[in-house]
Amino acid sequence: MSLAVPPSRSVTVRVPAKVNLELIVGPLRPDGFHDLATVYQAVSLYDDVTVRPADDWSVTVSGAEAHLVPDGGDNLALRAARRLAEAAGIEEPVGIAIHKEIPVAGGMAGGSADAAGALLACDALWGLGTPRHALEQLAGEIGSDVPFALAGGTAVGSGRGEQLAPVLARGSYQWVFAFSDNGLSTPRVYAECDRLREGRDVPPPQPTAAMMTALRSGDAAALGKALVNDLQPAALSLQPQLREVLELGSECGALGGLVSGSGPTVAFIVPDAEVALDLAVALAASGLAAGVKRATGPVHGAQVVPGPSVT
Ligand code: C5P
Repeated sequence: MSLAVPPSRSVTVRVPAKVNLELIVGPLRPDGFHDLATVYQAVSLYDDVTVRPADDWSVTVSGAEAHLVPDGGDNLALRAARRLAEAAGIEEPVGIAIHKEIPVAGGMAGGSADAAGALLACDALWGLGTPRHALEQLAGEIGSDVPFALAGGTAVGSGRGEQLAPVLARGSYQWVFAFSDNGLSTPRVYAECDRLREGRDVPPPQPTAAMMTALRSGDAAALGKALVNDLQPAALSLQPQLREVLELGSECGALGGLVSGSGPTVAFIVPDAEVALDLAVALAASGLAAGVKRATGPVHGAQVVPGPSVT
């Protein structure tokens, strides 16, 4: 299908980062993935993904860590856009511009966010109106965390993380994130997890009752205590200084802390703005973190930014 889209038209989608409140990792599957029981929460750190008709498929990235993002065929946003075009029979390439606030290789699903953003933005640009379930299906084929970046909020993930189910979650939470200078590769962290658990019997993953109860109560202290990440020992094994970052959090009054996803970002849940500020200052002064950001969660998933789309 060939669409007559004015060349000056663009669509921007804003997409949040995620933190895994709970990440229970099952045994290694024959396909190289692990079955998971996870609880995702979308938090208010965002990437903006803008698409516009172009002569060739391309991606450009801005933001402090732009140089760390692949800009060729490996770029997840580009792959997502091309995949949707193929599925819909679209032949017009797009240029993708990503403004990154989400850390790169930080365990907060930044690449997946960009893929979700590209899917939604291209769907709007091309006027496809793809049904939600079809968009989620495509998202799941592109990456395990991509469907959640579309959905946002708080949700339980199963399978390799791509199968989402709603969860009764109350409350709004304040987060402090400590970033690291060196990213961690997700496959490497999973491989380290397997190595550390070698010879042990790994049961099928199940969400914990403590997490479900905490989410129902909306009590930040209970949620802080219930945070759990099976990938944390592997991330700590690969970056041992993260242990000191976690310790600093509890010394400063955080209600709980954990490595976010495959790391190396460390996420703290804090009771109020005062503790958030104390912790942010202590982290900055310690030299242990390359950067510190505050955020709230849960927030919406990927959304088209309203406003004039003709530039
Ligand atoms: O799905 P995604 O592209 O994010 O996965 C990246 C890598 O992380 C996979 O190739 C795999 O090594 C690991 N992974 C895993 N089990 C999962 C999700 C990811 O082993 N459930």
